[in-house]
Parts: sequence; structure tokens; C-alpha cells
Amino acid sequence: MSKSHHLADRIQQLQPSAIRELLKHSKMPGVISLAGGIPSAELFDKEGLAQATQQVVAQNFNEAFQYGLTEGNVELRDQLVGLCQQRGITTSADQLLITSGSQQALDLLIRALANPGDVFVVERPTYLATLQILSLTEAKVESVGSDEHGMIVDELEALLSTTRIKAVYIVPTFGNPSGTTLSKERREKLVKLAAQHDFVIIEDDPYGAISFTEEREKTLFQTAAEMGDRESVVYTSTFSKILAPGLRVGWIVLPEWMKQKVAIVKQATDLHANSFAQSLVAAYLTTGRLESQVAQIREAYKQKCLALSRFLKEELDDHITFNEPKGGMFLWATFRYEFDTTEWLKQTLEKGVVYVPGEFFFSDHADKKTLRFSYATATEEQLREAVKRLKSAL
Ligand SMILES: Cc1ncc(COP(=O)(O)O)c(C=O)c1O
Repeated sequence: MSKSHHLADRIQQLQPSAIRELLKHSKMPGVISLAGGIPSAELFDKEGLAQATQQVVAQNFNEAFQYGLTEGNVELRDQLVGLCQQRGITTSADQLLITSGSQQALDLLIRALANPGDVFVVERPTYLATLQILSLTEAKVESVGSDEHGMIVDELEALLSTTRIKAVYIVPTFGNPSGTTLSKERREKLVKLAAQHDFVIIEDDPYGAISFTEEREKTLFQTAAEMGDRESVVYTSTFSKILAPGLRVGWIVLPEWMKQKVAIVKQATDLHANSFAQSLVAAYLTTGRLESQVAQIREAYKQKCLALSRFLKEELDDHITFNEPKGGMFLWATFRYEFDTTEWLKQTLEKGVVYVPGEFFFSDHADKKTLRFSYATATEEQLREAVKRLKSAL
């Protein structure tokens, strides 16, 4: 007799990822995928990473292969203070916790905060894997709509008039999946609301550095700090999109009141992030190559994004609308008429092109007319061909 009834209730309820099911054929030869949320491996800095690896083995061998501090490699945290400063975030090494990617940061933070029934607010649409983390807690998820300027903070304010919330989870810059950036006014309002209504903002920023222009919105962390609030915002970022995701190195900038407890959650989870990967990133940062690496990524994704936008406008303007992203890896599109993008995927797959249907990025009020394209890994030629195939599938 199966003993599956022994699985915890919340685990029994978990469903395999519908997207994975839908996209399992997307690796067939000839299929062009605009679905994956992964960076382009062609842009990984092979020479720099090889150089840093040699440096670690020659100079930091013991530390790289030994257990380390839960908070993370000291040298890496010192370097990160400088990197954060470049992003307008003034912090110190003892406020930083190195994590196994920002995915773990989100897991640790949500687990540290969530009591059963606590309300966490997400954007509509939002990052899918955060919904998965939340589904593993007994927290309640509420959602707030978004438009071309990011989360509609007035809707959040309306929700706050009836509901006490624990935290807002937000990707305010070049969001996944929406590609949008929260405007300055909304940033300021969100931060004020957090102080007035006593909730926490989890600012997830994997894409902020991948800007296609020189314009920069201040992070929510900086916006709050300039208002004298160093308690409300917890900031997380990662080396996944600017260096290499396989390293699994991310970090959290923690407010004082969370610092110790989140470190204990991390300790209970995995003691510390991978020592070798942390030493490698620290060594890489000393080579001074990150800046030109990020510049290359920005330029490459910008060209791909412009190309995809152009092809979509040329071929599908009667059918879909979208805002051109100003950074990041994703273009979010909406059909101009009632349409089911999940159903359509079967036809586009037959034509040899896949994307992610938008409905999976909603915790509720799913909009089936939406879809997410990633332009990061395809070549310009593939993007052109992909759009042609989409057109022929209509
Ligand atoms: C919005 C967002 N947050 C977090 C992550 C997790 O990234 P990582 O764990 O590789 O740092 C991703 C990855 O795609 C993401 O898009």
C-alpha cells in the first residue's frame, strides 16, 4: 500500500509545474524557444572565470574547499559592499548574507516572515517561483494589478484599507515576467505605505544592472534609506544574470532586526553557500572584469530586445501589443482580443516555436491573453524566424 498519505498536507497539494509539462517538447530539434528564463551562455566570461578559478586554487585553496561562515565569505561580502554602493545601496559587510542564488534568499526571507494566515502581496503578474515558495507556507497570497509603470500602488493602498499585510514581494526593475519598471512616484509611495502600515518590502533585483539606457530608478532600498527608513526594505540580488547562474551565488542586504534570525534559518537549511563558488566570485571581482562583462550583456540583450520588438511590430501588430522593455530579459505581450495563449502553445509548437503562456504568472485573476517572450538566448535570425512561425500559427 502506498504511504503517500504520510506526505505533509501542504506537500500533497503541490502540483508538478504545468509549464514544465507544456514545454517538455520544446527541446526537440528545430524548435526555437523564447520560453526559458535563462541567460545566454555565449556571454559567460570564460576567460575571466578560468583566471579566477586558477587564482582560487593557487591562493585560496583551503578556504575554497573548507566549511565557511553562514553569513558568507568575508572577502566576497567586503567586495559586495562596493557593488551595492554602485547601486546606491549604502551598507556594511555585516548586513549582508550570501545565499545560494536569490531563489534561496526569497525562500529564507519568506520562511522567516510567514505565520499561518499572514498576507503576502504580489504583483499581477509575478515571478512564478515566489508563488511556489509561498505555496509551501501557510501564508495567504493577495495580488495587486500592474501596468506599464509597474505595480499599481494605489490598488495596494485600497487593499490596505481593509487588510493587514505582512509583506509585499516585488521585482521593481525590469520585472520577470512583465519587463516593466516601477516609476519613481510609485516607489516613493510604496515605501511610505510600508512605514505607515508597518509591512515589509522584499525587493528582488536580479535584472536592475541589465539596463539598456543610462536611466536608473533608485532601488526601493535607497528610496527608503533617503527617507530615513532602514527597517522596511530587504533587498536581494544575484550573480546569476550578470556572471553565471550555475555558480548559485546571490545575496541579501538585511535590516538589523532580521539579520540574526535569517542567518539562523540559513544555517538550518544548508550551513552556508558553496565555499568554492563564493571564493570564485570574490576572485573574479578582483580581476575588475565585471564592469565590461555587464556592459557586454546589456548591449547584447538590448540588440536582441530591439530586434524582437521590431519583428513583432512588423508581423503581429494587428494581434498583440506590448511595452518595449528598457532592460532585463523579458518581453510581456498581450493579445488585442480575447485569446487563450495556453491553448495556442500547442499550435505554435507544431510550427516550431515556444513561449510561456501568461496565465502561470498570476496568483489569481489570470489573464489568458498574455504571454512572456525571453529574447536572451535566441540569435537575431532565430528571433525573426520565431515571429514568422508565430504568425503562421495564428
Ligand atoms: C525575479 C527573479 N527572482 C529570482 C530569481 C532566482 O535567481 P537565482 O536564484 O538564480 O539568483 C529569478 C531567476 O530567474 C528571477 O527571475
